[in-house]
Amino acid sequence: MAKDKNIYVCNACGASSPRWLGKCPACGAWNALVETVAEAPAPGGKNRLGGAHAGLAPAQPVRPLADIEAQDVARTPTGQGELDRVLGGGIVEGAVVLIGGDPGIGKSTLLLQALDALQRGGMATLYVTGEESGAQVALRARRLGLAGSRVAVLAEIQLEKIIATLAEQRPAVAVIDSIQTLYSDQLTSAPGSVAQVRECAAHLTRWAKAQGCAIVLVGHVTKDGQLAGPRVLEHMVDTVLYFEGDTHSSFRLIRAIKNRFGAVNEIGVFAMTEKGLKGVSNPSAIFLSQHAQAVPGSCVLVTLEGTRPLLVEIQALVDGGGPSPRRLSVGLERDRLAMLLAVLHRHAGVACGDQDVFVNAVGGVRISEPAADLAVMLAITSSLRGKPLPKGFLAFGEVGLAGEVRPAPRGQERLKEAAKLGFTVAVVPKANAPKKGDQAFGGLRIHAVERVDEAMALVRGLED
Ligand code: TYD
Ligand code: MG
Repeated sequence: MAKDKNIYVCNACGASSPRWLGKCPACGAWNALVETVAEAPAPGGKNRLGGAHAGLAPAQPVRPLADIEAQDVARTPTGQGELDRVLGGGIVEGAVVLIGGDPGIGKSTLLLQALDALQRGGMATLYVTGEESGAQVALRARRLGLAGSRVAVLAEIQLEKIIATLAEQRPAVAVIDSIQTLYSDQLTSAPGSVAQVRECAAHLTRWAKAQGCAIVLVGHVTKDGQLAGPRVLEHMVDTVLYFEGDTHSSFRLIRAIKNRFGAVNEIGVFAMTEKGLKGVSNPSAIFLSQHAQAVPGSCVLVTLEGTRPLLVEIQALVDGGGPSPRRLSVGLERDRLAMLLAVLHRHAGVACGDQDVFVNAVGGVRISEPAADLAVMLAITSSLRGKPLPKGFLAFGEVGLAGEVRPAPRGQERLKEAAKLGFTVAVVPKANAPKKGDQAFGGLRIHAVERVDEAMALVRGLED
């Protein structure tokens, strides 16, 4: 019955076929055909764009932009300050949020805590669990100290039943944990397949928009850190959040990758405790490891995450390698590391060609901004020479291929945070150095540099 309603559509060119084929007959792409529901045309044949192509909002007349009233969206705080920060102030009516992260990082924990706080605030909530039984969710709630929670729980993986429950319960916020476990009756493919994930997410999104119910979808990530399932999922939803962090340490970061209702690049910081996730409102120093003595190969940098400066320690180990030396980096881009080693050789005369080089950003943070370059280079030279950088030292700045040190955005804020935490020596790009007579930096001595070799010479001078 269900079978003959389905067609296979090419992900690359959109051509359709009644059967699955390994190669698309239209564009020749391999393995691109996925099952989709073939929608019957709407009765009367008036609405040709029915079914999967139906708009997410009801049809509207065409109007000039100036005549459309701009409404500010109403947000409800989730009771988790750090989660609200990444969401842009709270959960928005009818918004669809996708939240991804490694298994065991705390997605279910955080969402259960948030739902409970919303429920206490008087909103109707529904937690749909496809991965765990109701009893397991209850056990977690006890552990979180939410024994008396009134959050409604449904253990179900069939989309049609979930939609029916949503229609009956009319929650203001619903969590689907996780989208990969759902399946729709309309398709024959297994839960978690591209077709199922896409179809289920599209249905839920349409429901959210039509009924004004905020829906949070939990998504799995693949081994290489991407959200599993079709990329189209990221386009469909309003907000995409990622959980980051080292599962061995207790700190977790949530990063907004996309947000139609707020700023991206804002992060939320949490600590995993006995009683669930707790927000860390002043996270600037959590990624510093505590060395009693200064050690070789370690350099601190100030990175900016959204609006907050974070101090992160970069560690490098340079050691005699075999015939093909290795370059490994954790939390930093490996290609960038190769580039920095080349610049170091060419413009500062520091050769690591025959050495293994390992670089690590402490605490499982991922640093993508180029302002980390100078700190990485200083950590590498420090390890190579076996000499620690001075105590209370930090550096930041982007390094170009010509060996120049370029300014980092909002340098003054970075320096202020470092001064507040008691750092005493900083090497920074010239444009980031404060003007003469600026007293805001307390005991922080600031050295401005324009080139990499200048920075290296300066640091050697500081050691003696
Ligand atoms: P969970 O929310 O189940 O992760 P996800 O849904 O992302 O897979 O988190 C489970 C981990 O968190 C588990 O390893 C135990 C830990 N944890 C705590 O440390 N304290 C707590 O209070 C809870 C509920 C979990
Ligand atoms: Mg979970």
